[in-house]
Parts: sequence; C-alpha cells; structure tokens
Amino acid sequence: MISRKPIDIPCTLQERKVLEQIALAAHELGTPCYLIGGFVRDKILNRRTKDMDVVCVGDGIALAHKVAGYFDNAKVSFFKTYGTAQVKWNDLEIEFVGARKESYRQESRNPDVQPGTLKDDQLRRDFTINALAISLNEEDYGSLVDPFGGIADLEAKIIRTPLEPAQTFIDDPLRMMRAIRFASQLQFTISEEAFRGIKENAERIKIISQERISDEFNKIMLSPVPSVGLDLLYKAGIMKIILPQMVDLVGVETVDGKGHKDNFYHTLQVVDNIARYTKDLWLRWAALLHDIGKPATKRFEQGHGWTFHGHDAVGGKMVPRIFTKLKLPLHENMRLVKKLVELHLRPISLTKENITDSAIRRLLFDAGDDIDGLMMLCEADITSKNKVKVKRYLENFELVRQRLKEVEESDRIRNWQPPVTGELIMETFGLSPSRAVGDLKNAIREAILDGVIPNTYEAAFAFLLEKAKEMDLTPVK
Ligand code: CTP
Repeated sequence: MISRKPIDIPCTLQERKVLEQIALAAHELGTPCYLIGGFVRDKILNRRTKDMDVVCVGDGIALAHKVAGYFDNAKVSFFKTYGTAQVKWNDLEIEFVGARKESYRQESRNPDVQPGTLKDDQLRRDFTINALAISLNEEDYGSLVDPFGGIADLEAKIIRTPLEPAQTFIDDPLRMMRAIRFASQLQFTISEEAFRGIKENAERIKIISQERISDEFNKIMLSPVPSVGLDLLYKAGIMKIILPQMVDLVGVETVDGKGHKDNFYHTLQVVDNIARYTKDLWLRWAALLHDIGKPATKRFEQGHGWTFHGHDAVGGKMVPRIFTKLKLPLHENMRLVKKLVELHLRPISLTKENITDSAIRRLLFDAGDDIDGLMMLCEADITSKNKVKVKRYLENFELVRQRLKEVEESDRIRNWQPPVTGELIMETFGLSPSRAVGDLKNAIREAILDGVIPNTYEAAFAFLLEKAKEMDLTPVK
C-alpha cells in the first residue's frame, strides 16, 4: 500500500477514496498522474464541483481502463485520436488524458497532439488558474504543482494565460469566451494583456461552433452578475459578432437637446436586476431581449421627444430569428421569451388609474402561467436612479399584483379555457369544423374577458344560443 498524506483541498470522503484508487492504478502502471484543471480550481475556491480531470505522463486510456476495473468495471468511453478517456461511476465523471504538447492549426480547433511532460501539458491549458495540478504520486501525493502562479492569481482574482495571450487564444478561440465567462462567474478580472489578446483576436470566434458559443453565453447569463460578462463581450468586440442586435442598442442620440437612455446599459441593468430574483435562464433571456425591438422603432417626434412605438411587438418577432441563429431551443423556452418580450409593457399600462377588471382579466389570459415571470421582468425593468420614482413604480406594480390576485381568485382566468368548447358548438348546431365555430368560440371568450357575461357554463351557453341566432343558426335538437 502506498502511504499518503491527505490532499489539502476540501474533498468529500468519496472523492478521497476515488483519488486513492486512481493513485493506486497509476502506481501499478508506473504512470505519474495528477489531478488538474477545474476540479482543483473550484475546490480551492470552495465552489461546488463534481467532475475530475486527471492528466498522466503516459497512456491516459490505459489508466482509465485500470481505474474502471477497480470501480465494478465502470463504463469507459475513449477517443483514440485524442488520447482521452472518460470513466463514469455513480454520479462522478472522471476525464483522463495523457500529458501532451499541442499545436493547433490556424483554421481549426483540432490540435495536433504529441506526448509531453506535465509542464508541457500545463502550459497548453487556457488560464493559470486552470493549470494547477495536484500530485497523485507516491513520493509527493497531495502536493500542488503550480509553475505559472495559479494560486497567486486565484488569490488576486485574476485571469491570466500561461502562454503569451495571443498564442492561447489563437490555439483555441473559445477560450476568449471562457475568459469572459470565468470573469463573470467568479467575479475575477481579466489581466490587461489577456484582454488585449482577446480584443485582437475577437474575429477568430467565428471558427467556433454555434453550440459552444451559446453554451458559454448561457453560462455568462447564469452568472451572479451577468452584466460583467455581457459588457466584456461588448468591449472585446465579440458581442457584435455573436449577437449584433445587442450592439444596436448601444449609445445615446440627441436631437434638440433631448437624448434617450442608452438601451444597451439599461438592458444590462435589467438582466442584473432579474438575476437577483431568479436563476431561470429563460427569464434572464427575456430581460436581455425585452427592448431588442427599440433600434428598429426609434423615432424622434417633434414636441414629444424619442419614441419606440411598437418595440414590444417588433422585439417579439425578432426572438425566434435570434434563437434560431444562436441554436437555442425553439420550443417552450423560446415561446416564453417571445411572450414576455411582447407583453412587457402591458403591466405598466395597468398602473394607470381606473383600470377595469376586464383589462386585468385580459392580461391574465394572455400571460397564463407566465404572469409571475412577466411581473418579475417589469419590476426588473425599473432602472431609474431616482429613488422616489423607483418607490412609486414599485408601489404601482404592487397594486397591479394585488388586482391580478383578486381577479384571478374570483374568475380563475389563468390557464383558463372558455366553458363552452368547439366540440360542443359543433354538436349543438350540427356543424363541421368551420369559421363559424371559431367565431362563436371567440365571441364567448371575448364576452367573458370583457365581463359582459360571467365565467360559467350556463351564461356561456345562453350567450352562444343568442349569438348563433344572429348568425341564423338553430340547434339540431
Ligand atoms: N481547457 C483548456 N481550454 C479549453 C477548455 C478546457 O485549456 N478551451 C482545460 C483547462 O485546464 C480546464 C480543463 O481543460 O480547466 C477542463 O475543461 P472543462 O471541464 O471544459 O472546464 P473547467 O475548467 O473544468 O470549467 P467548467 O466546468 O466550469 O467549464
């Protein structure tokens, strides 16, 4: 048995056992091996992390098979060309790789791989904070191997590259987004040289697949203060390549001494505001896109100033196009974002005086189950610096919430279906599916939403008979 001092990072008992098994397997194969990358970084930062990366000076695939043998023959997936393997055991994923030197071709993300030392391998990694290794070898088990000052950078909260930045980013341009994502996730600063390297190579993001770009973008959206990453994407010149519609929001135009707010920074503030209340990625996306229709609808009206009439509807129409381009999911998630963009001005219109129950009912009907998300977006949309105004707007929304609650309690409109169905209409008048059926159904729905008739079967059926009579329709029985 190998004698070991405990690893000085906060691992669970199970993780310690797994690491010892890996160490034993490596010892038996005579292959030096190290824990490396995100697991080491996150454990030192006390962040939650699960998946382990292991690098060995030798054959990573052979090591993975040996380890799997110790874990009830756990499943091994491997890629011979890359010399990488993955072992899945319980809820743990362990990646194995042989230490390597890498050189990338300009036009592709795929590297030419050659075996190398641990230091070669650390040098080819993206950031010093991701190049930290912990030995799993008998002679120095548990000790840290930190040739590029990764620990100092973790302490200083700084993102630096082990190599000259241009080299690191040209090797793999996705790393530009990773740098920005880590800055946003960990609230770290990107070193000046590294940021210059990103700015100078921003165009190269175009060789990265859309899926990877969107994956990093979503991680930025899910970070605690997303504006950090979003603003860095803009300043680095990446935003204009991956989501140019956001860059169209930048800036203030002035006519006759009248300006409007900078809709880009307003939007970033709205995203941060909603991020304080929800981790839901799609609500955050709704905040990001809520004003996306503003540039297309911007007008200066004499006597009025700047207007953005219809930016809600125009913005809503832009959502599916943006989601398609970014290869984001096009079903419920997109529909939610589109709906909230379209409806984001409606609750504001309900803060005026003398709002009827029917206006409230209509919003409940249109928003359905997404009403809470919509109200959250509207509150996040308040970015005034004037505390008195903010207080007044919030109080107004509180009143709207109250009215929504009252009307919902009495009318149950949320996710509501009118009490008379299309089938019943067809059956009653001996109709086949046709325009007349749709017209009658709509008339009933409108009458209930407008409060002309109560939301009951009896009232709806009586109303149906009356409407049908106007259309010269008589019941068949
Ligand atoms: N890595 C790299 N360049 C990349 C991706 C990864 O150098 N483009 C290296 C880094 O050392 C990284 C390790 O591979 O720590 C593991 O990568 P991955 O699991 O993708 O990222 P993590 O750093 O673990 O972080 P996260 O899980 O948050 O993405």
